[in-house]
Amino acid sequence: MEEVIIRETKVEDIADIIRVANQAFLEDARRPSVTGRSVVNGLRSFPKLQLVAEVNGEIAGFIVGNISGDRGKVALLAVSPKYWRKGVGTKLITELERRIKEMGGKEVTPGTPFARGFYEKVGYTCYEVEYKLIRELPYSVIPKMDSDLNPIRFEDLKKIVKTLGEKEALEFLRAFFSSFEIKGGKAYILSEKDEVKGIVVVAENKWNSDLLEITYFYPSEGDGVFDLLENIVIEASKMGYRWVGLRTRNEKLAKELMNRGWKEAHMPEFWTMYLMRKELK
Ligand SMILES: CC(C)(COP(=O)(O)OP(=O)(O)OC[C@H]1O[C@@H](n2cnc3c(N)ncnc32)[C@H](O)[C@@H]1OP(=O)(O)O)[C@@H](O)C(=O)NCCC(=O)NCCS
Repeated sequence: MEEVIIRETKVEDIADIIRVANQAFLEDARRPSVTGRSVVNGLRSFPKLQLVAEVNGEIAGFIVGNISGDRGKVALLAVSPKYWRKGVGTKLITELERRIKEMGGKEVTPGTPFARGFYEKVGYTCYEVEYKLIRELPYSVIPKMDSDLNPIRFEDLKKIVKTLGEKEALEFLRAFFSSFEIKGGKAYILSEKDEVKGIVVVAENKWNSDLLEITYFYPSEGDGVFDLLENIVIEASKMGYRWVGLRTRNEKLAKELMNRGWKEAHMPEFWTMYLMRKELK
């Protein structure tokens, strides 16, 4: 293998960087807009943390980093497939870590879920799993035609806030107000004799118009959650979506849902995330 030179990214490298990303990422994860913006933002805010690997004058890989307080982050990392498994990725991340440490960073976390094996090899450990679960609707047995959910009206908000308590209510309200701006955004309440039994907010996934994402649900565990989710499955099915998705860091809930027909998602736009980090020593 020829010499690999790691150097800071220049603006004129952007076209080559997009080419590398297009080759390296899974087909559905190829988003020049995302890569392009990420590199541009990186060059504007953290020029010292944008690096490319050059082999024979050709850009073979790149890394986009940033730092906030003492936490460094790998926003993007890719190596052109013809250079895979030759140590280029390791060289890029090692130099980024060195620079992050020099800037006062104490740890580094990768921002993407695609390369667990690589990150483990270079010293990262998984500290939490954010499960992304999906239920495929066309093949699901939908128990009935109508759900017991009703759209949330502004008049319901006081009652809901009282039920949830202040901290949880803020989580809900964030999802609730965001849902007004997102396609497919809707918020529902499940009540029994004027008592709040469940709340669920949904919105269409930004990248996949077949996927309706649950952006908030209450209760977040216990039997009540299954009743609530069955109801939203009915609603999503009526709306014509192919998948309903939810994210949770609660392993017990994830396992229970997988026993009930939900599956771990492996879509580039909705993928179980292994949250990893490495302490810089
Ligand atoms: C992940 C990636 C950057 C690794 O680059 P690379 O230059 O091939 O990495 P290295 O050669 O330094 O690999 C170091 C070690 O990581 C591990 N590794 C690398 N790629 C791996 C893979 N696809 N699966 C499992 N382990 C892998 C190996 O243990 C490897 O050592 P070995 O070759 O001696 O066995 C590259 O595969 C890539 O661009 N993938 C697609 C985009 C992506 O997933 N980016 C990361 C998230 S943003």
